[in-house]
Amino acid sequence: MKLFDVYPLFDITPVRGDGIYLYDDKGQQYMDLYGGHAVISIGHSHPHYVQMLEQQLRQIGFYSNSVKIPQQQELANKLGALSGYDDYHLFLCNSGAEANENALKLASFHNGRKRVIAFEGSFHGRTSLAVATTNDASIQAAVNDNANITFLPWNDEDALRMAMGDDVAAVIIEGIQGVGGVKIPSVSFLKSLRSMCDQYGVSLILDEIQSGYGRSGHFFAHQYAGIRADMVTMAKGMGNGFPVAGVLISDKYKARHGMLGTTFGGNYLACAAAIAVLDVVQQESLMGNATKVGSHLIEKLRGLPGIHEVRGMGLMIGIELDGPCAPLRGKLLEDYHIFTGTSSNKNTLRVLPPLTLTQTQADVFLNALSSCLKLTSVNI
Ligand SMILES: Cc1ncc(COP(=O)(O)O)c(C=O)c1O
Repeated sequence: MKLFDVYPLFDITPVRGDGIYLYDDKGQQYMDLYGGHAVISIGHSHPHYVQMLEQQLRQIGFYSNSVKIPQQQELANKLGALSGYDDYHLFLCNSGAEANENALKLASFHNGRKRVIAFEGSFHGRTSLAVATTNDASIQAAVNDNANITFLPWNDEDALRMAMGDDVAAVIIEGIQGVGGVKIPSVSFLKSLRSMCDQYGVSLILDEIQSGYGRSGHFFAHQYAGIRADMVTMAKGMGNGFPVAGVLISDKYKARHGMLGTTFGGNYLACAAAIAVLDVVQQESLMGNATKVGSHLIEKLRGLPGIHEVRGMGLMIGIELDGPCAPLRGKLLEDYHIFTGTSSNKNTLRVLPPLTLTQTQADVFLNALSSCLKLTSVNI
C-alpha cells in the first residue's frame, strides 16, 4: 500500500532526537529550529519526559473518559498554576483543530449564535469549522463552505467595530499569527477586541496552539496585552510531540454531560506527556529562557543586512526577506544542517526552536544565516 501523498518531503530520515538536535539514518546531526511545526517545546527526548512516559506506559496507557483519571486533574492543577488561568476549566482533546472545533461549538452552544469572526492570514486547522475560519481557500473543500464566517483585516479596530454585533457567536484569533508569518496583534487591538466581545456577549477564543506554552516568553502570547480570553486553545508544545490538546474554558460556560467528548482525549499517556512538559517548563525556567534567547536573536537578526523585517516575541520569530525564502531555507538545511520553517507568506522564514535553545546555539544559527544571506541571490 502506498501512502497518500499530501506532504512535500525533505529527503531526510531522522532516527534520533536529543535536545535541539536531530540525527538521521546516516548519523548526520541537524539543528532543529522548527520543532516539527512548533511542537518540540522542551527538546527532543528530554530525560524527564521519557521517564514519565515510560513509567506511565508500564502502569496503564489508556482507558476512555468513563472512569476517573487522576492525572487529568494533576495536569489541570499544574496548567492552571503556570498559565494564570487557574479559575478556568480544562477540556482535553487530541489536536489543535479539534481544540478550536470544540471551542467554537461551545461558544455557539452558549449564546445560540452562528456567526464567527476570524482574521486575514489566520490558520486554525483543517477540520470543518476550523478550516472554515482558516483564511486559505486552497485547503477548503466545497463542504467546508460556511457563510457564517467573516474575515477581517489584521489589527484593524475600525473594521472590527463595523463587523461586531449581537449576532456574533465568537471571535477567534491567534495569540501571534503563526502560519500567516509571525504577526503580533497590537495591545490596543486586543484590548478593543476584549471590550467589544464583552459589549456584545461574544466569546473571545484565543488560539494559542502555536504561540502558547511559553513560546512567546509569556505562558500564552496574548498575556502580553494584559487581557483574558473566554476560551484558550492549545496543542503543539503541550505534549512535546505526544498528541494532546486542550481548551481552557471560563466559568461562564456551563458543562452538561455529553456536550463535548472524545475517545482518546486526556488519556494517561497524554497526561503524562503534558505534565512532564509543564514540569520542565517550570524547573528549567523555559519562559525566561525564551525571552532572553529570543530577544538576543531578534536584536542580532535586525542588524543583519538583506532582511526586510524581523517580527517576533520570545522564540517565535519571523524573518521576512525581499523575495521568497525557499532558497535560503534550502541552503540552511543543505549546507549548515539547520531546520527552519516557511509560512503562507512565501517571503517569511519561521524560526520556532525548542524553548531550551541556548545563546551559543542561537549564535551558530546567526552565523550560518549571515553567511547564507551573503550568498543567496534574492538578498543581493
Ligand atoms: C494557530 C494554529 N491553530 C491550529 C492549528 C491546527 O493544529 P493541528 O494541526 O494540531 O490540528 C495550527 C497548526 O499549525 C496552528 O498553527
